[in-house]
Amino acid sequence: MMQSKLPNIGTSIFTVMSQLAVKHNAINLGQGFPDFPMSETLINCVANAMHAGGNQYAHTNGVPILRERLSEKINNLYQTDINPESEITITPGGTYAIFTAFSTIIHPGDEVIIFEPAYDSYIPNITFNGGVVVPIALEFPNYTIPWDKVNAAITKKTKAILVNTPHNPTGVVMTKEDLIKLQDIVLTHHLYLISDEVYEHLIFDNKQHETAIKYPDLFARSFVCFSFGKTYHCTGWKLGYCVAPAALMKEYRKVHQFNAFSCDTPKQLGIAEYMNKKESYLTLGTLFQEKRDYLRSLLAHTKLKYIPSSGSYFESYSYQAVSEESDKVFAERLVKDFGIAVIPMSAFYQNATDHKVIRLCFAKKTETLEAAANCLIKV
Ligand SMILES: Cc1ncc(COP(=O)(O)O)c(C=O)c1O
Repeated sequence: MMQSKLPNIGTSIFTVMSQLAVKHNAINLGQGFPDFPMSETLINCVANAMHAGGNQYAHTNGVPILRERLSEKINNLYQTDINPESEITITPGGTYAIFTAFSTIIHPGDEVIIFEPAYDSYIPNITFNGGVVVPIALEFPNYTIPWDKVNAAITKKTKAILVNTPHNPTGVVMTKEDLIKLQDIVLTHHLYLISDEVYEHLIFDNKQHETAIKYPDLFARSFVCFSFGKTYHCTGWKLGYCVAPAALMKEYRKVHQFNAFSCDTPKQLGIAEYMNKKESYLTLGTLFQEKRDYLRSLLAHTKLKYIPSSGSYFESYSYQAVSEESDKVFAERLVKDFGIAVIPMSAFYQNATDHKVIRLCFAKKTETLEAAANCLIKV
């Protein structure tokens, strides 16, 4: 029998729910991906890059013009100078960017603090690298970070903290005060920060994205991870990047160099070209806020109660007024009996904490949101 490196890990909930959705021909508000088309212009930029011969291995750190464009963008948005040569690496997706950060810093037995509910790759990523996960529950029902508990959880073995803003699955956005507290803890205890900012542009209600890049002392100890898939409605492209100070990036690149080595060349060239169209990402907050609000309005007459999201693809809803069932059983019944796939929030906790909450993805066409609401109204 093979000795598993991840003995407690099963099939991801997204795969399970998506398979059930296909089986029952259900509307899928489970997995987080847009069901509307991406930009034809961007597709053409990639096709042009392929026709122009951009089909061989890219530079291991990423196509230089793309890193330059990203550096300019970061400067415009966050007024910070990031060196495209030494501080940006293009990766095959945001998840890989995060995994590589863990691989770079974790030595066996190192503790890493994460917040639950948590995006599902973090725990296996830390475990696989020999780290010990220290989960801290966000405070229900607003899912705020309990900073006193973070302080209390720090030990001599604590190596890093992972944060995610805007947050999947709750849509909570970290504030300036959060970042200041985070910086204080990271600096006091000489920790590293892994900041998952894949939903950087999907932020609502006039809130500002508080990136770790904007805080120089914090950034000095940070790996900040992004995803082109989320920004350009092409999650299937699996392309992202990591921004980190040169000293940290030097070590990061040692890991990347002998893993993926490099990423898809024509997509990098195509995105670099398309990045001139700033409105494509500057309008994302408005676009997704309208979708969040439309779904809210459609569900206003049900007994489902939203728990406010200020960012990401997601909003969570309490079904406490509808059923006593566990969220897993409830989600299974929704897909089998009502034709709608959602994600039970307990899937994002190691100990399956169940507050009777489901996560809905609103990154969908109007017709999909309406069809989903028609199912949920019957529950
Ligand atoms: C919080 C979070 N981080 C990372 C990712 C992964 O990004 P990518 O598809 O670029 O690997 C996702 C995708 O769902 C996410 O929700």
